[in-house]
Amino acid sequence: MNKKVLSIGLAVVLGAGYSLTVLSQARPEVAVKQRQAVMDLHGKYMYGDLLPMGQEKRPYDANIVARDVGFLDALSKMPWDNFTPATKDVKSNSRPAVFSDTAKFKEAQDLYQGEVAKLVALTKSGGAEAAVKPQILAVNRACNNCHETFREKL
Ligand code: HEC
Repeated sequence: MNKKVLSIGLAVVLGAGYSLTVLSQARPEVAVKQRQAVMDLHGKYMYGDLLPMGQEKRPYDANIVARDVGFLDALSKMPWDNFTPATKDVKSNSRPAVFSDTAKFKEAQDLYQGEVAKLVALTKSGGAEAAVKPQILAVNRACNNCHETFREKL
């Protein structure tokens, strides 16, 4: 193989790597839309099903709980890498503290993901209604804990 072919090959490989990196980093406006979409879906399953069941405002349905907790397990991992410094000046419901107090924001994420993990473990092991309901409320407290500091009043 001569040098020219080699360097073209190298350029193609580097080029592919470069565009992959670019593709996984959405434009700031898109990144904001995506994280809001993920949060909206958190709302759908938490406020639509889980919380009313946890608060005994709606009959408990173990099948719906298992499905929704599975969704929440995935959703709870999705939005965080969309809160990049590049999105700081895009209009959104995030408070400036998201970008200035990143350690505390991360702490609120970890607390929340810890509570979701407990809920996942409970439902996977066929946890009793009496154990699942208080854990739904604990997850909801972790949502509120973050919103109090990091989200504008909606
Ligand atoms: C670690 C912080 C954090 C946690 C935990 C969290 N949220 Fe949020 N949430 C935010 C922030 C910040 C926004 C504002 C997003 C934006 O507009 O940039 C938001 C926005 C929302 C919105 C409005 C969507 C919008 O367009 O802004 C809903 C609904 C919501 N969250 C529900 C939930 C629910 C339900 C949970 C828990 C199951 C939860 N969130 C957990 C930080 C959090």
